[in-house]
Amino acid sequence: MTMASAGFIFLLLLMVSVSLQNASDAFIQVDCKKENSGQYGQQSVVECVIRKSEEVKDLTVSRVVWKKDGLILLEVHNNQPRSMAGYSFAEPSWNNKSLNVSLLIANTAVANHGNYSCMVMTDSGLDNKSTSLRVTAKYGKPSIHTTAANTTPSSQVTLTCRSQGGHPKGQLSWFEAPNGQLVGNVETAAEVMPNGLFSLSSELTLPSGRDASNYTCVVRNARGGKDDEVTGTIPNAGHVKGLGQDPKAKNTDLATKVVAPLIVIGSMIVGLLFLVFWKKWCKREDWAPQPGTDPEQGSPQHQLLGSPECQETNVSGDAA
Ligand SMILES: *[C@@H]1O[C@H](CO)[C@@H](O)[C@H](O)[C@H]1NC(C)=O
Ligand SMILES: *[C@@H]1O[C@H](CO)[C@@H](O)[C@H](O)[C@H]1NC(C)=O
Ligand SMILES: *[C@@H]1O[C@H](CO)[C@@H](O)[C@H](O)[C@H]1NC(C)=O
Ligand SMILES: *[C@@H]1O[C@H](CO)[C@@H](O)[C@H](O)[C@H]1NC(C)=O
Ligand SMILES: *[C@@H]1O[C@H](CO)[C@@H](O)[C@H](O)[C@H]1NC(C)=O
Ligand SMILES: *[C@@H]1O[C@H](CO)[C@@H](O)[C@H](O)[C@H]1NC(C)=O
Repeated sequence: MTMASAGFIFLLLLMVSVSLQNASDAFIQVDCKKENSGQYGQQSVVECVIRKSEEVKDLTVSRVVWKKDGLILLEVHNNQPRSMAGYSFAEPSWNNKSLNVSLLIANTAVANHGNYSCMVMTDSGLDNKSTSLRVTAKYGKPSIHTTAANTTPSSQVTLTCRSQGGHPKGQLSWFEAPNGQLVGNVETAAEVMPNGLFSLSSELTLPSGRDASNYTCVVRNARGGKDDEVTGTIPNAGHVKGLGQDPKAKNTDLATKVVAPLIVIGSMIVGLLFLVFWKKWCKREDWAPQPGTDPEQGSPQHQLLGSPECQETNVSGDAA
């Protein structure tokens, strides 16, 4: 009896001490949403709230620290909240009685994607939890550019599809437009732009001698959802052969259509300006030989260099 009861009492004491330990740890607890999501360029909230057990009647928060990658974003110390620019409490009038300690990010950037920790210290205990923010951005409408490959005589057609401004990394895929059949084995290249968003491109190479056809390029986000699509028409085989003889004409990019006329207009303006100034200069040289009328104008060197040239053209002008 003595051995058994002693053992029983010991076990009972152990259980009480363990449950008491648990209870004191659980006076307060920080509860965070497992995965928060935010949109690029918009406000995001990383949600955490303080849960207190029933025994706690009045709770005062003495310290809060929000961290990401070792950097303190928001901190309450000595009843004074301090934060980096762009971060604040989601509750506009947060004070040391507020249990909602959610973090507000004013203008979500790609750098805000990742893991956060929230440490809370109160007069009834402390807790520290981690949570994550997933930053997404929708891909823009894709564009298709047509370029015939630089091979002769049987040239290929290459369609290039581009879409940018999305996050995380997405995928481009090609479909034959009338029947919607997927074109397999076309890779998507991804580049990170300075703002952290992705720029996707995919090249579809088609053999020559095929009928004009339409191809659809679809851009999908990281979770496989369709963000947008565009359909392009490739030039028919005859058209492509014609273009194949002049590699420069094959590029259908808008840039070449705009730049070529600009160069022509630009050189015409430069030519006209040259003519006007040159004529003026010649006239000045005509007046220059009479000294005394305007001593500041026309140095002797100018006269020596200028006069024969002007005369030369005057002669040729007379001849024509
Ligand atoms: C202590 O709390 C944890 C959860 O916080 C629970 O899983 C565990 O069962 C508790 N232990 C005791 C002895 O109550
Ligand atoms: C909580 O805030 C009130 C009013 O702002 C202040 O008087 C009090 O000292 C604060 N308590 C602590 C523990 O910081
Ligand atoms: C915390 O406050 C923010 C801003 O008011 C709100 O969006 C969020 O839903 C609140 N969270 C909870 C759990 O009440
Ligand atoms: C966030 O933490 C989890 C583990 O808790 C880890 O698997 C994940 O890679 C982390 N994410 C980032 C962006 O660091
Ligand atoms: C809270 O825990 C995380 C790891 O989960 C750690 O990086 C962070 O420094 C801790 N915060 C504080 C204030 O101790
Ligand atoms: C391809 O698109 C053009 C213009 O979008 C349309 O006129 C033509 O009918 C389409 N061809 C096929 C085979 O769908």
